[in-house]
Amino acid sequence: MSEILVSRAPQIEAEIRVPGDKSISHRAVMLGAMANGPCVIRGFLPSHDCQCTVEAMRALGVTVEQPEPTTLIVHGRKGEFEQPKNPIDCGNSGTLMRLLSGLVATQPFETTLIGDQSLSNRPMKRVIEPLTQMGASIRATEPKATAPLIVRGGKLGPIRYQLPVASAQVKSAILLAALGASGKTTVIEPLPLRDHTERVMNYFLVQSQREEVGEGFAVSLYGGQVVESRDFTVPGDISSAAFWMVAAAAQEGSDLLIRDVGLNRTRTGILSVLLRMGAKVREVVAECEQGELRGEIRIQGGRLHGTVIGGDEIPSLIDEIPILAVAAALAQGKTLICDAKELRVKETDRLSAIAANLTAMGVEVVELEDGLEIYGGAPLMGARLKSFGDHRIAMAFAIAGMFTDEECVIEDTDCIATSYPGFETQLQSFLSPSEPLPTPIINPAEAFERS
Ligand code: S3P
Repeated sequence: MSEILVSRAPQIEAEIRVPGDKSISHRAVMLGAMANGPCVIRGFLPSHDCQCTVEAMRALGVTVEQPEPTTLIVHGRKGEFEQPKNPIDCGNSGTLMRLLSGLVATQPFETTLIGDQSLSNRPMKRVIEPLTQMGASIRATEPKATAPLIVRGGKLGPIRYQLPVASAQVKSAILLAALGASGKTTVIEPLPLRDHTERVMNYFLVQSQREEVGEGFAVSLYGGQVVESRDFTVPGDISSAAFWMVAAAAQEGSDLLIRDVGLNRTRTGILSVLLRMGAKVREVVAECEQGELRGEIRIQGGRLHGTVIGGDEIPSLIDEIPILAVAAALAQGKTLICDAKELRVKETDRLSAIAANLTAMGVEVVELEDGLEIYGGAPLMGARLKSFGDHRIAMAFAIAGMFTDEECVIEDTDCIATSYPGFETQLQSFLSPSEPLPTPIINPAEAFERS
């Protein structure tokens, strides 16, 4: 099992790019597979999770060429797949298992979905319920309704469904199933959730409507629409950029520019939080091509102070809470993270993993049922820290190690390949920068400074 060794890093003065967005990469491959011809996908994230999606499509009879790691040619099968010969392995990916259950619910055959130990413990009732209401039959391992899932799809009917949990994966599973259902399906989200599925669908000329209703926001889609094959470029992943953003934000004098990163409004919650904590944050929206905002983020470090993170903003930063907890430990005073109970059912129980690692680093932290209280400002101590097999915990604490005088060891870091191939190389370049990078240039006319 590999480990990462890290200790105090110099100031960051750099201009970087991050690999493609994980959520969008999964969706681009699946919608490409449902399209009526070949789609070239550029900027694809060649991480373990997203490669599992490629293999899943291949298992369903889709030809997917990968001439280079970040380029795919997906030969769409107009939504008609072949029965897989073996169970489909979703690896560590909750996004894949949940979205795929929606996709195969439209097919008139049985598909078995399996995953690794972590995924086999994650809740699947949240997709089983709505897909069953649409007419699919799904068997799971009781008593907790976990994977393996055996999905028998076929003729689906439309539903109007209020999401009981604020989950973009569940919304997406229903929307994918809705494409193969008769009539109009509506999903009501209690809070704005990431909307990449709708955006990639709309780019592939599938129409959906979004309106505010009493219970939240209703997204509706008519089944039977043709998914038109088009080429697509995935922007950089703001959730991967987040690690470096905090590394720069927490150090006075640091100046980091991240280019070509996704700036979808349902994902940028971390920018508002860092700004509230005292960092200088500037984003430049360069374009909104192919349905997704993309551009640059510039972070200048400062003395951070504690804040409250909770309520409606949680879905917009749900994957950034581990690294924001590290920012909180580096900030002066108390930070309260609340309304984040969903973190208990991610790749690991992230609330207890964060609490354990911060405690090992000498930080005062109180674990709440739905969040954390973190008392920051004391120097972080070097320690041996567990990743808990969770990529975001491993990366968040590698960043924490950049602020310790003694060496910090992060154990079991192979899991980082789940979402961020190249993380360690980027980390090394910050730990021992070889040559000064060009000064970032931002056109002030285009800049949108957060306040
Ligand atoms: C994702 C949605 C979120 C997020 C996950 C990716 C997606 O999960 O945490 O990493 O791609 O739709 P939930 O839908 O469970 O909130």
